[in-house]
Amino acid sequence: MIQELLTHWMTPCPRPIRRLGYLHDMIAVRARHRRCRDAWAPHLAATRERVAAAVDATPGRDLAVVLGAGLLLDVPLDALAAAFRRVVLVDVCWLGETRRAVRRFGNVDLLDHDVTGLAAACRGVASIPAVPRGSIPYLRDADLVCSLNCLSQLPLNPRLALESLPDVSADRLDRFSRAIVAAHVEALADAPGLALLVTDTTANRVLKSTGDALSRDLLFGHPHLDGGDTWWWDIAPAPEEDRRYDLRHKVVAGVV
Ligand SMILES: C[S@@+](CC[C@H](N)C(=O)[O-])C[C@H]1O[C@@H](n2cnc3c(N)ncnc32)[C@H](O)[C@@H]1O
Repeated sequence: MIQELLTHWMTPCPRPIRRLGYLHDMIAVRARHRRCRDAWAPHLAATRERVAAAVDATPGRDLAVVLGAGLLLDVPLDALAAAFRRVVLVDVCWLGETRRAVRRFGNVDLLDHDVTGLAAACRGVASIPAVPRGSIPYLRDADLVCSLNCLSQLPLNPRLALESLPDVSADRLDRFSRAIVAAHVEALADAPGLALLVTDTTANRVLKSTGDALSRDLLFGHPHLDGGDTWWWDIAPAPEEDRRYDLRHKVVAGVV
């Protein structure tokens, strides 16, 4: 806990990003990964394998862009750096350990960038802002773009920042969230190069006592990728979130 607080204080992070909770979330993901390392391993390996397969399937060797690179848990950085002249890792902020981890690669850059283009617009506003087109750096130039386990996260902090606005219904927030998801997928679909999407789509809370599952769509009604590979991510096995149930996310990976 103290280590997490220290990381929060010491990590440089643009103020709107910090205020919206992104840095807090990244530190929480690091802590949960440490607690659930074994449970997460198959999901992280499956993601890395899909990225490696996408690298093999990409004819160009100039530029690869990775969106939501975060802690690099699911990023096969050695393979990417070996295959491409340049690799750009994109996220809203970075922990010190990630900055240190990429230093050994002369051709890997970290880019602080909000792919929704919305984060800064969601604080101190009087109404729900319009959702802009998804903002993917170097989209036109990249041979390969990988969106790695970030799609379902994109609406969460903007939505939270808007929840306390007067006269904002859950329904309107759901439509706003769905539009953010759609904007990202549409931007990926616009990529002239190969675009790989790996995302969780469904959360299942599976009761230990009966095996019954309570299911929730993580993409707010946006259609799930058709025909991709799917697997389950044991994201919070009991008692991580609750001793009564395991939380599992269904993941899909495929070319957009
Ligand atoms: C579940 S984590 C995936 C982490 C990452 N792929 C890894 O291996 O550590 C989701 C990531 O999406 C990033 N993210 C969330 N909203 C974002 C946004 N608007 N723009 C860019 N990245 C965002 C988070 O900061 C986080 O690192």
